Amino acid sequence: PTAPLVLGIESSCDETGVGIVRGTELLANAVSSSMDEHVRFGGVIPEIASRAHLDAFVPTLRSALDTAGVTLEEVDALAVTSGPGLSGALMVGVAAAKALALATGKPLYAINHLVAHVGVGVLDGGDLPESLGALLVSGGHTEILKVDALASDVTLLGATIDDAAGEAYDKVARLLGLGYPGGPVIDRIAKEGNPKAIRFPRGLTMPKFTGTAENPGKHRYDFSFSGLKTAVARCVEQYRARGEEVPVADIAASFQEAVVDVVTSKAVLACREHGMSTLLLGGGVAANSRLRELLAARCASAGIALRVPRPGLCTDNGAMVAALAAQVVMAGGAPSGIGFAADSGQP
Ligand code: KG4
Ligand code: ZN
Repeated sequence: PTAPLVLGIESSCDETGVGIVRGTELLANAVSSSMDEHVRFGGVIPEIASRAHLDAFVPTLRSALDTAGVTLEEVDALAVTSGPGLSGALMVGVAAAKALALATGKPLYAINHLVAHVGVGVLDGGDLPESLGALLVSGGHTEILKVDALASDVTLLGATIDDAAGEAYDKVARLLGLGYPGGPVIDRIAKEGNPKAIRFPRGLTMPKFTGTAENPGKHRYDFSFSGLKTAVARCVEQYRARGEEVPVADIAASFQEAVVDVVTSKAVLACREHGMSTLLLGGGVAANSRLRELLAARCASAGIALRVPRPGLCTDNGAMVAALAAQVVMAGGAPSGIGFAADSGQP
């Protein structure tokens, strides 16, 4: 059988994405971001994101079809992110996908955003192995997943209990007066600082939270970044109260080291304890240079193969939705029908 031609739609946050794949081959990945409209607010404003999706959807769809050189009639299946994400933003993509499905009669697949961040891996480096772990780090979510079958068997091993990793970068950048979004600028400034200058707290790494391999604690694979953010705020305040110059580069480097230390060590621990021999990294924070460096080193010494899809596939996009849906189609999964709702909560 020939590989299915699948069109995927993503609208869970500030990116309007339409991607087209044929099986594991990427044909188009059109993305329009409303980030510019959120910058002056220092964070994504849901109402603005939803309106931007309405404006961007049809041009993004046209662009993807043009790039792929296919028509809607030729598509075998449609897919859309149904959650988790911002509910108003999700609803725009879901409504658009349902309209296309009704107008064309094509089967429609509701796709989980987190699993799509993993499924996109097939577009860069080919098929994913059976015992696969995933570390997802973005502005909206931070998780460790165990993937036994992309189409049907994915377990959430751990997640943040407060802020997402990218959100922590954004909040700390604001505290340091570095602007928004904070990830890229902290990544850059941290290179000039000493990551050991200040020992910031590593959230949920104490034995009372992690337990042991035999007797795991409730938060063994979970994350918390709000205490870290508070520690950075207190540190900055102390310098200011003393009338001293704030050592921005040292604070940025030390903050980044705390985030990256925790996410890499917990991801590697989860892989070891669940027999997962490959780890896939996804989400916007996957662009972080220190995260890539430390994760590569820790995976190498633990004998874990690391897969990092190229940056345009790590940030939110439509191709990841199409790629996962194609896997579902090829595994014989049934379409979702037209009645499903956008679901903003965790899976
Ligand atoms: O995946 P994404 O584009 O959107 C979602 O949040 O879902 O991720 C954006 C997040 C922002 O919080 C941004 O600060 C962070 O990813 N980010 C980074 C870097 N580039 C983007 N964080 C750390 N280092 C980076 N180089
Ligand atoms: Zn995402």
